[in-house]
Amino acid sequence: MSSSLFAPPRFSDLAAAAAGEKPLTWRQRRARFRQIWGLARRHGLLPFRKLDFSYDPATADLRARQARGLREALEEAGGGFIKAGQLLSTRDDILPAEWVRELSRLQKEVNPAPAAQIEELLERELGERRGRFATFDVEPLAAASIAQVHRATLDDGTVVAVKVQRPGIRALLDCDIDIMLRLAGWATRRIKQARQFGALDIAKQYAQDLRNQADFAREASNLESLAQSARSARDEVRIPRFFPDLSTDRVLTMEFIDGETITALRREGQTDEIEDALRTVLRSFLRQLVIDGVFHADLHPGNVIIDPDGTSTLIDFGSVGRLDRDLRQTVQDLAIAFLQGDTRRVADAALAIMPLANPADEPGFRRALAEFVTHDLGSGSRITLRTIDNASDLFTRYGSALPADLVAAGRAFAILEGTLRTAAPTMDVIGESRDAAQALILSQLRPRALAGAIGRSALGAFPRLRRLPDRIETIVGDLADGKLTVKIRLFADDRDRRVVTGVIRRVSTVILGGMLTVASFVMFVLPPFEGGSLSPVAAGVALAIGAAASFVTAAVDALLGRRP
Ligand SMILES: Nc1ncnc2c1ncn2[C@@H]1O[C@H](COP(=O)(O)OP(=O)(O)O)[C@@H](O)[C@H]1O
Ligand SMILES: [Mg+2]
Repeated sequence: MSSSLFAPPRFSDLAAAAAGEKPLTWRQRRARFRQIWGLARRHGLLPFRKLDFSYDPATADLRARQARGLREALEEAGGGFIKAGQLLSTRDDILPAEWVRELSRLQKEVNPAPAAQIEELLERELGERRGRFATFDVEPLAAASIAQVHRATLDDGTVVAVKVQRPGIRALLDCDIDIMLRLAGWATRRIKQARQFGALDIAKQYAQDLRNQADFAREASNLESLAQSARSARDEVRIPRFFPDLSTDRVLTMEFIDGETITALRREGQTDEIEDALRTVLRSFLRQLVIDGVFHADLHPGNVIIDPDGTSTLIDFGSVGRLDRDLRQTVQDLAIAFLQGDTRRVADAALAIMPLANPADEPGFRRALAEFVTHDLGSGSRITLRTIDNASDLFTRYGSALPADLVAAGRAFAILEGTLRTAAPTMDVIGESRDAAQALILSQLRPRALAGAIGRSALGAFPRLRRLPDRIETIVGDLADGKLTVKIRLFADDRDRRVVTGVIRRVSTVILGGMLTVASFVMFVLPPFEGGSLSPVAAGVALAIGAAASFVTAAVDALLGRRP
């Protein structure tokens, strides 16, 4: 094995030498720690407290020099260190530019693992099923620090991409994570800046990310959830077909996608096709986020393949985020309010899931939020990691933390925004998102979809009832007074609006004893309420709703002029 700068993790050879994936012995761990320590010293990273994380222009050269040392050390260390450096390279919010720039140069490709080791791993993982590959290219298409991807064919001629974990990588990762956590703990104790940006917490978060990257069972289930959602939405963006029989938690076999990643296309200077393709990716991402709540959280340019027809396919499902039903509802409410330019309702929706520590602060919070929406999210502005952190700070300042899943969603959006910004620099991402979100929400809430959704939402309203305070009466009262039509402003198309308004009015008068049913309908239209517990009345309502749901669906169907 060559010992060039880009040599693969030498230690993984050692790890792989042990049959299977035994944890490293104490001796091996100590040797790895010494190796890392040696690298740090050789590349001028010691002592840690001399590292400069300041924003002082006078010391920019020093930072650039130290950052290069770090990049080289990480590349030489390989294993989890390269991947951790890549994850860090997106954090321009916590690291000065010189560090970020150098980290983003981290070598993505490393030398592939020896063919014999890959073969051994395939046989160990797949057993007899190894024979189902009619051909298998030992030379990988791509080799990164955790996995490498090979092209293969099946008996029937299907071309597949087989993503294989580097032999021994898990044992090595465990050891590396342990070392990283120690180093971060150490730095946190000794360096003020490291303490300020919460180095240890960040390291812990990345440790989890790294473990997830090496769990292909998880990646496979992510792939399947996204594929399922793309299928049912007839998405323009594709997800590769998955072959569960030829996959394990270290091997992932999927359809081979013809075409090139955005990274490769940009290298070749083909940027025209990219823009249209990327627009579909943005739309698809927003649909995943707002409607399905399962979204690809790592849409950097290497994870989108565009084929010669201009169809985009998402690959690499190591990092997929989820938003539960309530959060999704909030995101929808936020989006609707945002689309209508109604900062008051943006604040209402935000407050519904994130009550302030001190209710007396509410006016100040509303002002700060309105300012954030206008400045950070105004048309032409860019959503960067900093935007997400500004939002996060805003809530922290008022003593209320943004739910972690929501922050993760924001980050995922920021990563995609980064891809769009570099690959389609003229695209107005916020403008496009606004249009896409509007189209999405409208298409989801069109009367036809609504009719079905009412049934579903009535059944799905159960958990929400727990949080429904004794306001049912008010709501039903509002409905009767026609105040509820405000909620219908969303429907831009007059015809839609009329139909829906009509439906609501008629449903509310036609259905005898319809209060209960209407309440469930209303809950679909209104944002959820905070507080309140399940009163006996509400419990009764809950029981009645299930039965009433099918009745409403039938009623709406009838009102829309269709026979159920
Ligand atoms: N289904 C596929 N079809 C064609 N090429 C693929 C496929 N999956 C992965 N690749 C190639 O392999 C590279 C690495 O795969 P990826 O899943 O992104 O691994 P990693 O987690 O190491 O980033 C991709 O950038 C792409 O070039
Ligand atoms: Mg990738």
